[in-house]
Amino acid sequence: LRVLGVERDLQGKRVLVTAGPTVEAIDPVRYLTNRSSGKMGYAIAQAAALRGAEVTLVSGPTALDAPRGVRTVAVESAREMLAAAEEAFARCDIAVFAAAVSDMRPKNPASRKLKKGAADAELSTIELVENPDILSTLGNAKTSQVVVGFAAETDDVIENAQVKLSKKNADMIVANDVGGSLGFGTDDNKVWLVSADGVLDVPRLAKSEIADIVLDRAARFIEK
Ligand code: CTP
Ligand code: CA
Repeated sequence: LRVLGVERDLQGKRVLVTAGPTVEAIDPVRYLTNRSSGKMGYAIAQAAALRGAEVTLVSGPTALDAPRGVRTVAVESAREMLAAAEEAFARCDIAVFAAAVSDMRPKNPASRKLKKGAADAELSTIELVENPDILSTLGNAKTSQVVVGFAAETDDVIENAQVKLSKKNADMIVANDVGGSLGFGTDDNKVWLVSADGVLDVPRLAKSEIADIVLDRAARFIEK
């Protein structure tokens, strides 16, 4: 079945996508975050919906419009993202973890605004604790879901992606080289798709085209 020239090959499938950064409160006006426009994750959510999937997008704060035909759940912190993703994961066929999750969060976020230059130096040191790893938590709990992660690397891109593939029990890792000018905030990207059966070198393409290639490969892992 084709609608407006798009193959509805994901009709009847449920797809979960995490996207954007997370923000971790320091106090009511300050936070810790990651560099992420959300464009890659939103492109995957949009592409999956156009191909007929029922899509849940769990997104940290971005400047993007919610993709059409997608159920978008807005979250802020990594822990909120995990809770929302966990719920959708249980009944999804493909889960794509494209979010740039903050690895750490302030241990004791203040309920009042901290003051710079305070005698007790309350803003000069922020104690951090590690956030849950959403991909790893759900990858290691998967039953029949196809699990796709991302890896943003500046060095040894493919080797680091292979380590993440096995540690996080993913079926595929979309590896990005973030050392150069591509990746963050751009409309196109250069990636490698790393899975147990090998590495696919994808040329520089629009994020919308990369989204379709990622979904093509992921769909092959769905147990028939
Ligand atoms: N990820 C996640 N939850 C986290 C950290 C990462 O779900 N707390 C996911 C990302 O969405 C991505 C993958 O794990 O799909 C890899 O993220 P990345 O930041 O490249 O790797 P990390 O495992 O966090 O390791 P590091 O940042 O130290 O390289
Ligand atoms: Ca990280």
